[in-house]
Amino acid sequence: MEPRRRIGFAGLAVFAIAFVLTGAQVSEPWRHRAVAASGNAARGAKLYETLPCASCHDISRPWPGGAICPNLGNIATEAARIVRRPDYHGRAKDAAGYIRESIVDPNAYIVPGPAYRQADGQSVMPKTFGQTLTPAQLEDLVVFLLTRR
Ligand code: HEC
Repeated sequence: MEPRRRIGFAGLAVFAIAFVLTGAQVSEPWRHRAVAASGNAARGAKLYETLPCASCHDISRPWPGGAICPNLGNIATEAARIVRRPDYHGRAKDAAGYIRESIVDPNAYIVPGPAYRQADGQSVMPKTFGQTLTPAQLEDLVVFLLTRR
């Protein structure tokens, strides 16, 4: 392939990816859904995109799945189910609590999965979000993830 055409292709690919991303964003149903909690789902969605969450998690596919990390496509439903499991030993009582706990204290309950644990038994998920996120940011993320049913 000539160098010029190759650049053309790369440009087209970048354009296509940008189009898919913005298109997907505009059609997100959470934009039109009222949520009864202190956070803001739209702000949470922005945060989710800017933080490294998406480099590990796939939010478009259902739980569990994901070779590196559990998928979060229906995390609200799954979170409500997980807190009632007999082997759940974290402190959360409901879906919101479970999602919050998962973000600030990943080791509280480690989802059984192919590669979700490090060799030392700790969660592969970074344990620093509890320090780096403000309480308001955390609530925005929780409310956003609660829209994933
Ligand atoms: C380096 C990869 C990585 C990054 C970055 C990451 N996570 Fe995770 N996350 C994981 C893994 C692995 C698990 C499963 C192990 C566990 O339960 O701790 C997990 C679990 C979770 C769970 C519980 C999922 C379930 O199925 O019960 C939630 C919710 C979650 N992450 C949200 C987030 C959010 C929000 C961010 C960004 C602020 C984030 N994660 C960033 C790897 C990551």
